[in-house]
Amino acid sequence: MTEKIIIDTDPGIDDAFAIFYALRSSEIEVLGLTTVYGNAPIAQTTHNALALVERAGVACPVARGAEGPLEIECRPYPAMVHGEDGMGGVSPATVSGSVVEEHAVDFIIQAARANPGDVTLVPIGPLTNIALALQKEPDLPKLIKRVVLMGGAANANGNVTPAAEANIIDDPEAAEIVFAADWEVAMLGLDATHDVKLTRERVAVLAEKGGDLGAFLQQASAQYFAFHQDVVGLDFCHFHDPSALIYCVRPQFFSAQASSVRVVTQGFAAGKTIAKPNTRFTAQDGWDNRARVEVCLSADGPAVLDHYLHVMSAG
Ligand code: BDR
Ligand code: CA
Repeated sequence: MTEKIIIDTDPGIDDAFAIFYALRSSEIEVLGLTTVYGNAPIAQTTHNALALVERAGVACPVARGAEGPLEIECRPYPAMVHGEDGMGGVSPATVSGSVVEEHAVDFIIQAARANPGDVTLVPIGPLTNIALALQKEPDLPKLIKRVVLMGGAANANGNVTPAAEANIIDDPEAAEIVFAADWEVAMLGLDATHDVKLTRERVAVLAEKGGDLGAFLQQASAQYFAFHQDVVGLDFCHFHDPSALIYCVRPQFFSAQASSVRVVTQGFAAGKTIAKPNTRFTAQDGWDNRARVEVCLSADGPAVLDHYLHVMSAG
């Protein structure tokens, strides 16, 4: 049985690694890509999504989504991390495909209605589209199998502020709506993705064995490596978004703790995800009747990376 998924994405260099993996995996059926602002403006992330699908040579619908957060001002786009074009300077100037007519929110709702109980939503950008879909179709949790999202940090520091990870701080109100809904969520946050360390050596092997897509990812990731080296002081990259896709089919590579999660929406800790393990007592109200969240706390990094290379090298 393949996993039917929708990837809600803001490509994004690590989004590109994730999308190519999902399109290549024989265990995953990608029903579509829905786009969101985040690593670049919505026009650019949508252009990049179309370019990635075209490059992969597959027929995969792309639906354009939200251009900004629900309530707050859009944060400056992180050109320092992903490049001005969100793709490390290698996004093609033109694409031949075009987006579907439906807005991303309607695409998600329609796909869920057409496949009740079968669709896994995989958001790897800000959670705006998912929150809007919940507001438009309150029965969405009954129609969706589960959500596997890249975002947040339970015990680790954030990567934008000491408190907050990028996808959550981009739209904390949307994230709070997602973690408050009555559904199953797996949270692939920095606690786990920081264990998955992509080196230049691994990317060189990917370029050698992964054909045209591997070579493209090597070019796109030069900027990502430079950011990690020059700004963060690391000689590897964190493999954030692909980890969420790999969790869908290889959860055994990750350790997780069943929890409730709430999001700080204001103040200097805005975007902080606070996890309460189900086994812990609290005297505070507000932690019940929320999403049942598997908070991933660690990952077997080499196993994740070996699996990625295996899938990208096959065929
Ligand atoms: C997340 O933020 C974005 O920059 C990446 O694409 C990833 O989704 C990591 O914090
Ligand atoms: Ca992303």
